[in-house]
Formats: sequence, structure tokens, C-alpha cells
Amino acid sequence: MTEKAAKKYVHAQWSSRWVFILAATGSAVGLGNVWKFPYTTGVYGGGAFVLIYLLCVAAIGIPIMMAEVMLGRRGRQSPINTMRKLARAEGASPLWGYLGWLGVLSGFLILSYYSVIAGWTLAYFVRTATGVFSVPVAGGMTPDGVQAIFAQFVSNPEALLAWHTLFMILTVVVVARGVQSGLEKAVRWLMPALFILLLVLVGYAMNTDGFAQAMEFLFRPDFSKITAPGVLSAMGQAFFSLSLGMGAIMIYGSYLPSNASIAGTSVTIAAADTLVALLAGIAIFPIVFANGLEPAAGPSLIFQTLPLAFGKMAGGDFFGALFFLLLVFAAWTSAISLIEPVVAWMAENHGLTRVMATAVAGTITWVLGIVTILSFNHWKFSFSFFGDVKENGMFDVLDILTANIMLPVGGIFIAIFAGWIMKRRHSEEEMAIRTPGGYDLWWFLVRFVSPVLMIFVLLHLLGLF
Ligand code: TRP
Repeated sequence: MTEKAAKKYVHAQWSSRWVFILAATGSAVGLGNVWKFPYTTGVYGGGAFVLIYLLCVAAIGIPIMMAEVMLGRRGRQSPINTMRKLARAEGASPLWGYLGWLGVLSGFLILSYYSVIAGWTLAYFVRTATGVFSVPVAGGMTPDGVQAIFAQFVSNPEALLAWHTLFMILTVVVVARGVQSGLEKAVRWLMPALFILLLVLVGYAMNTDGFAQAMEFLFRPDFSKITAPGVLSAMGQAFFSLSLGMGAIMIYGSYLPSNASIAGTSVTIAAADTLVALLAGIAIFPIVFANGLEPAAGPSLIFQTLPLAFGKMAGGDFFGALFFLLLVFAAWTSAISLIEPVVAWMAENHGLTRVMATAVAGTITWVLGIVTILSFNHWKFSFSFFGDVKENGMFDVLDILTANIMLPVGGIFIAIFAGWIMKRRHSEEEMAIRTPGGYDLWWFLVRFVSPVLMIFVLLHLLGLF
């Protein structure tokens, strides 16, 4: 393939703005919303964490998302080449290309553990579908029983590896075939279905006797529970959940038709993502409290609560299986966006075919995943992170490093580039915001508010503020 042909292939366009919204929402909505948001909220004590999270989405997430989409659309290439090209156009240093590199590295690392957890979801789909949790003991499964099943599951690295492998294969197959065709169809049906099923779960949760306590836990902030690592995690969670800081949204933006509104689209995506996360929290915590489970259980939280609920619900095997299956799909559309920037870049710069590029990137990620697999069994260790005890060894290290550090650092540079390096008239032209004052508001946020907040949170952690 000639370079030109390759570019054209990689840089097809979404057929409409609506498809971009679906694809970007597919990227944003995933394990981050249903698995990570509830467990992190539980670890950091509820309401105060949720409030800080929402503030981060509004003051940092949305402006950065707009910046990423804008840069992507203006560059129209993979993040590394986009950053180089835009830096050249603005007369800035070619070193900005390294921002794309940071994103590629974050993508590899995140996908390596993301795929392992998505593998758990696959395994739990099979378990619910085969009725593992609906054993007819009086009153259904006990909390202890569900916990034991989970503990036994993660103690077996071969099983985890098999599920991780299966999920990586699923991801690589779609990416190799080109994101547009497969993804457009998938997200159109699956996202609404997941949303409806979450509502069913919320309906169930409302009728348990943990509901009032859960609402209190989630929405009444107790600021005495918030610590510096908690604030950092809330900010990291905003980046993780919105797929920001590594070029995933940037590359989807590079496929966006030039007449689509960047601001309106970004707000829509962020709102949908936040709604799903909150619904997941509202579904899960009543089950936690009604069954006397530990809110701070960590990554195992949804794998303990949901099977309990489905075990007791009428038609629980069916709903449970459907729910985990939809969660697999949500994780799938997210995983695709984690690997897409790398693949596009390899295809653009190294003359690899899309299939080869995907195979190489997929294999690297697959091998890296073994680190996460072992963190839950043979290589389990705990450590203290600014006073927080983390029990899942390398998994926690990877999570903190990527979501809480690399993504926000990427975000700081994106904000600096969009707000300070890029000429105002260039960003204004690309954003084409029609609402009066809309552009100025974005410009102010991306130039001052977001970077200052991000830098403050990172420095605060180091005790420098
Ligand atoms: N946002 C996804 C989720 O919530 C995960 C994800 C996909 C992601 N692409 C990303 C996170 C890019 C950070 C960067 O599950």
C-alpha cells in the first residue's frame, strides 16, 4: 500500500456526527463506569468522592474532551502525527510529538489490565448463564458463597489467562478489520440495551432495604473521608471514564466530519458517560448494604454484589447473563479505542498493514496482561500509596500510574497545547462554536482552570501544596 492509500484507509470518516457520538460514547462507557466507578467510590467513602468526581468531569473533563476532539479533527492523523503536524503549523517544537508517545504507552498499559478485567466479565457471563449463582439453597446464594467463588476464580492464573486471551482476540479482530464498519453497528444497539438493563437493576435495587442507605452513602458528602489520594483518584477516574488524556478521543475526532459541533457533541458524550456511572452506583450500593457487604471491597465489588442480586431476582439467570454480556460489549468498544491510536500510527508511519499493526500491538498488550493476572494470585503484594493501603500489587501500581498519573499529565499538556501554543484564531475556527460566549468560556477553562486544577492535584499529592 502506498503511503497515500494507507492514509486514506486509516482516515476514513464517520458517516455522520451521530456515529461519532455513538463511537465516542462506546469508548467512554465501559468497565470504568460499571466496575471502576462503584469500587473506587466505595474505597474512598462515597459522597465526597462522587462530588469531586462530578466537579472534575465538568471543570476538567469536558474542556479537555473538546480540546482533544478539536486537535484530532484539525490534525486528521494518529495522535503522534497529529501533534507533530499541529506543532509544526503553530511554529512550536516537534517535541510535542512525544505527547502522542505518552498516549501510546498509556494505551498499552491500560488495555493490558482492562482486558484481564473484561475477561472476568466474560467468565461471569458464562457463570450466570449456566445458573452458578442461583443454587436453590434457602434464600439463594450467601454473601460468603459469592465471595468464595470469586476468590477461587482469581486464584487460578490459567483461567484468568484464558479469558484475557479470548477478550484480546475479540478486540484485535474488530480493530484489524477497521474500526468504522464494525463499531458503528455494534454501538447503535448495545449501548441503549446496556442502559435499559441498568435501569432494570436500579429498579431491583430500589426495592431492597439497602436503598436509602446507599443514596445517603453516594450523595451525602462526608468531607472528612477525603484524602489527597482520593482527590487524585477522582480526577484520574474522570480521565479514565471519559477516555481522555491519551489520544483515544483525539483519534475518533480525526474521523469527525468538519461541520459537526465539537462542543455539543462533547457535552452529550460526557453527560451520557456520567449518567451511566451514577446509575451503576445506584444499582450496586443498595445490594452492598442490603447484604452487609464491604463497600470498600475493591475491584471485586461488582463480582460479589451483582451475582447476589441476580441469584435472588426472578429470571435472574437470564438478566444476569444479559447484563454481563452487555458489559463485555461495553468493554469491547472501549478496548478498541485504547488500541486504535497505536494501530493507526503504525499503519501511517511504518508501512505496516492494518492487520499486521493490530497483531503486533495486540501481542504486546496480551503479554503485558500477565502482570495483572499474577497480581491477584502468585504475585500478590500490598503497598502503601501516600497512606492508602493497596492490596493488589502490580494491578494497583498500573492503575495508579496510568489513570491517576499518565492520563492527567497527558491532559495537562493537551490543555497547554490547545490553550497556549495554538493560536486563538485557529482553535476558534476549528471549534466553530455558535453560542455567544461559548468559545470564550472554553478558552478560559482550557487555558487556566483545567491545567491549574490538574497541576494542583498532582502537586498536592506530593505534599507541595
Ligand atoms: N473509558 C473507558 C471506560 O470507562 C476506558 C477507556 C477506553 C479509556 N479508552 C480509553 C481510558 C482511553 C483512558 C483512555 O471503561
